[in-house]
Amino acid sequence: MRSSVLLTRRIPASVLARLEAECEVDLYTGRSAISREELIARVAGKQALMCLLTDRIDREVLDAGGDLRIVANIAVGYNNIDLTACRDRGIIATNTPDVLTNACADFAWALILGITRRVGEGERQLRRGDWKGWALDHLLGMELRGKQLGIVGVGRIGRAVAEKAPAFGMTVAYTDQTDVELPNARFMTLDRLLATSDVVSLHCPLLPETRHLIDRKALAKMKRSAYLINTSRGPVVDESALAWALKERLIVGAALDVYEDEPKVHPDLLALENVMLIPHLASATTETRTAMADLAASNVLAVLAGKPPITPV
Ligand code: GLV
Repeated sequence: MRSSVLLTRRIPASVLARLEAECEVDLYTGRSAISREELIARVAGKQALMCLLTDRIDREVLDAGGDLRIVANIAVGYNNIDLTACRDRGIIATNTPDVLTNACADFAWALILGITRRVGEGERQLRRGDWKGWALDHLLGMELRGKQLGIVGVGRIGRAVAEKAPAFGMTVAYTDQTDVELPNARFMTLDRLLATSDVVSLHCPLLPETRHLIDRKALAKMKRSAYLINTSRGPVVDESALAWALKERLIVGAALDVYEDEPKVHPDLLALENVMLIPHLASATTETRTAMADLAASNVLAVLAGKPPITPV
């Protein structure tokens, strides 16, 4: 009998065809995330679940999917999956590292350039019809050359962001919870990195230890001329503390791709000009999203064929 896979979102047709050649595919075709009730109902009897970071895969879901052998997340982050519960049930969990590293690193730079050069603010002003013409002191930003980029979390993406820093003439400082080395960069404690960096970019996973890593206290330690960039996970930053810091001008600006309670955004942030707010797009290129779906499908097909997964977590 062919194995069954529940797919919680549409994926590129070429990847879907690969799965359909080997398995029965139950594809959820809704435009937004599958509801919890539907996920629980449809996972029953499936051997594989291909899901997204918007799907919370906890004990209840895993128990409803009593035949599951693999949960394949189409994302590098996997804080949406209860890994202990997977292990207890002998279910393999996989993610999609590497294939999105470059797209995410490019995007972190898009945010660094966008907020330090006030791109969003300028575009909003122009569209409102408020642009009065070129002026020497109009919407001045900060030059990157000669400044320090502080990387918090030196995994694949943090490293790739650091590698691009010389192109903009920035020096790099970094901090991490583990003993890692980053060439041509200075290791610092988080406190020192916050106190000395002109741009702080977050690349750590969401763990109990990193939840609200950037809170009021951390923000108060930053240079008043600094910027905060978050492309990691929303809850790494305390959003109401950030809104306070931006309002009080404790830092100059922030650019966020991720939020504490997506797709909701803290209303105080929405009201501020000095924050760039992007709807979780870091890996969103056609090439990368196709590669992510393809890797998740390869993990599913490997495990269903009794082989080891390519990228277990
Ligand atoms: C996106 O945020 C991912 O984890 O892949």
